[in-house]
Amino acid sequence: MIETVIEQSPLEPLIAIRSQVLRPNQPLSNCYYPEDVFKHTKHFAAFIESKTVGAASIYKEQHPDFALKQSWRVRGMAVLPEFQGKGIGMQLLQTCINHAIDEKADVIWCNARTNAAKFYKKAGFKVVGKEFEIENIGAHYLMAKNLGIHHSESKFIKIAKQIFANHDEEPIPVPQSRNSI
Ligand SMILES: CC(C)(COP(=O)(O)OP(=O)(O)OC[C@H]1O[C@@H](n2cnc3c(N)ncnc32)[C@H](O)[C@@H]1OP(=O)(O)O)[C@@H](O)C(=O)NCCC(=O)NCCS
Repeated sequence: MIETVIEQSPLEPLIAIRSQVLRPNQPLSNCYYPEDVFKHTKHFAAFIESKTVGAASIYKEQHPDFALKQSWRVRGMAVLPEFQGKGIGMQLLQTCINHAIDEKADVIWCNARTNAAKFYKKAGFKVVGKEFEIENIGAHYLMAKNLGIHHSESKFIKIAKQIFANHDEEPIPVPQSRNSI
């Protein structure tokens, strides 16, 4: 694996990555999300020899389907094409997961592009519900990872059932440790 540094970042360096990787045919203004400036938001960048090669942001944001206050959302997950497949995306995602755990999250979720769903599955996210379309981008799944490590086992199971209600897969059976992926 090449030497990559993941650091908290201001928003601006992430915009070029979002634009190139996630919204190449859209105006730059579409790469700014309202949650980017919320109080609890954190942005992370991946650097190789001071070049920004990847980006991810995490928001304290409840999904309407989860009756959980401590919900965090990953968004803007992107690695420049020439640096993909080298473990950088997973380092960024793990950084976001660890941040959510530090903030005592119950759940971390994202709207995952269908062609990136396996990437999130590798980090322990599960698909919740059916595939849906986001205009100008394409097919997505809502995906979520249960982080109920701050609760008793019974509370954890309750949370898992809430998250994965109407879903075929079983809830994750044991609490995840922060280094478990
Ligand atoms: C999705 C993305 C962020 C992953 O970053 P990455 O640096 O390429 O991924 P990694 O190298 O860390 O991959 C980690 C694991 O996930 C797998 N993986 C990564 N992207 C995948 C994909 N699109 N489909 C299936 N598996 C994928 C890798 O094979 C690897 O598995 P392994 O550990 O068994 O080898 C990156 O490929 C990207 O920017 N893609 C285009 C934009 C996008 O789809 N972003 C997600 C928006 S929801």
